[in-house]
Amino acid sequence: MKYAIFGDIHANLEAFEAVLADAAEMGCTDHVCVGDIVGYAADPNRCLAIIREMGCPVVKGNHDEEAILHTSLEGLNPLARHAMEWTREQLNEDECEFLGNLKLVRQVRDFTIVHATLDTPGGWTYVTNKFDAMASFSYQFTQLCFYGHTHTPRIYSKGDSVEPLEEMSVQLEMGRKYFINVGSTGQPRDGDWRSSYAIYDVENQEVTIRRLEYDIQTAQDKIIDAGLPEMLAHRLSLGK
Ligand SMILES: [Fe+2]
Repeated sequence: MKYAIFGDIHANLEAFEAVLADAAEMGCTDHVCVGDIVGYAADPNRCLAIIREMGCPVVKGNHDEEAILHTSLEGLNPLARHAMEWTREQLNEDECEFLGNLKLVRQVRDFTIVHATLDTPGGWTYVTNKFDAMASFSYQFTQLCFYGHTHTPRIYSKGDSVEPLEEMSVQLEMGRKYFINVGSTGQPRDGDWRSSYAIYDVENQEVTIRRLEYDIQTAQDKIIDAGLPEMLAHRLSLGK
């Protein structure tokens, strides 16, 4: 049994399709999504449809939540505001209901999934260092938890202390816990434009983060054609 665990798709269909194709090639049997299906890029409806067709476990991301609210977007920066206004216009009632019903935290088999943090899952704060990770570990009751939100893949390991690993793969050890950011499928921000997702190989007790090239040009053209801010297309190339 192998899980493909992805998130922060952000309506980037080309990136999402590349991840799913790679996952199939790698022999993944199950799919899991850690949230932020929509927001930023030009294919929110298609990305949502694929997730729903797969019927895979999903948790809610902050963009999934924001997209179905009718609250003012005054507090957001102009780029995010424009993208969110556009995304809200695209979603129908049924899609909003699906997003609205997503839970913040779920357990799948023997692991947990959350979008942002386990200590305040609906607060949408960011885990950017080992101290943030320690706060989440306090609420982690499974050996393994997968998350997203920072758009930067990272593996934190907890034994006597909490440390981020240098490597992008880990052999799970008994007695240790792991809090693993799967990176972003549709809008990586670690300076590497390639899509990111994780494979959890249950039999071998191994987690590996994979990076993949995808048809970025088409994704960028669609963003421009949709009338979304050009910067949203440009940043995909920068991996920011
Ligand atoms: Fe995100």
